Amino acid sequence: MKKSFKLMAVCLAAATMLSMSACGGKNSDESGVSEGSSSLDNIKRNGYITMSTNAEFEPFEYNEGSEIVGIDVEISKKIAEKLGVKLRMNDVAFGALIQEITSGKADFVAAGMTADDDRRKNVDFSDNYFDARQAVIVRLDSDIKEPKDLDGKKVGVQEGTTGDIYCTNEDGSSEIKVASVERYNKGMDAVSDLISGRIDAVVIDDFPADKFVDKNSSKIKKLESMLTEEKYAIAVKKGNTELMELINEVLKEMNESGEMDQILNQYLVKE
Ligand code: ARG
Repeated sequence: MKKSFKLMAVCLAAATMLSMSACGGKNSDESGVSEGSSSLDNIKRNGYITMSTNAEFEPFEYNEGSEIVGIDVEISKKIAEKLGVKLRMNDVAFGALIQEITSGKADFVAAGMTADDDRRKNVDFSDNYFDARQAVIVRLDSDIKEPKDLDGKKVGVQEGTTGDIYCTNEDGSSEIKVASVERYNKGMDAVSDLISGRIDAVVIDDFPADKFVDKNSSKIKKLESMLTEEKYAIAVKKGNTELMELINEVLKEMNESGEMDQILNQYLVKE
């Protein structure tokens, strides 16, 4: 009897710890995945808003210890704060993010996501908050000197990203014709394969590219010329104008107060 009581106490303590860590952030309810609740009234009633992201994209979202941090996380915190609720985060594969919204698992996606026409068919985007471009990373001794040298090369990308779409070139609109596209779940794995010589280049957004290069500057570099021009925005469920308007208001306030610049500076220069 005593023994089973003890056991129960241990289980209880473990359960409490689990739910406590849940409040801190990722995958944060008992089932391991937070559900979005879409209408602002619902969100306020529940006391939390759910953001989904892919935390493999420093400086926009990445893991620091057990926490997800980054520019998108700071913006998301502001959105939650504006509503007076807690922020919950789901960390999923980049290719699953649109579905997080359409299925109602997330209220919004903040993931350095480029607002492009294809995605617009399934989600609505907020105002743009960041200008980005696709960059090319190569080994220091590479014969790839500019983007057109990618023709006929083996290129690594993060699966489902605009870098993937550009290199795969299904509609024939890209200026480059690579030999093959290797798709990775994490940009970091593509960079590792580049360093070890399994692929010839990595195509990825410019600021994450800088972070990868900074950490491996004795082996890889970023080409000066870029491939595309893109704009990041926050995605919400189609037709959820009240949440969209609130997010736009938060972005506007952050821009006007100088807070956005301060956050960008903090994360872009940080090693
Ligand atoms: N901007 C690119 C896109 O929208 C890449 C974004 C990758 N983001 C991430 N959190 N892994 O496709």
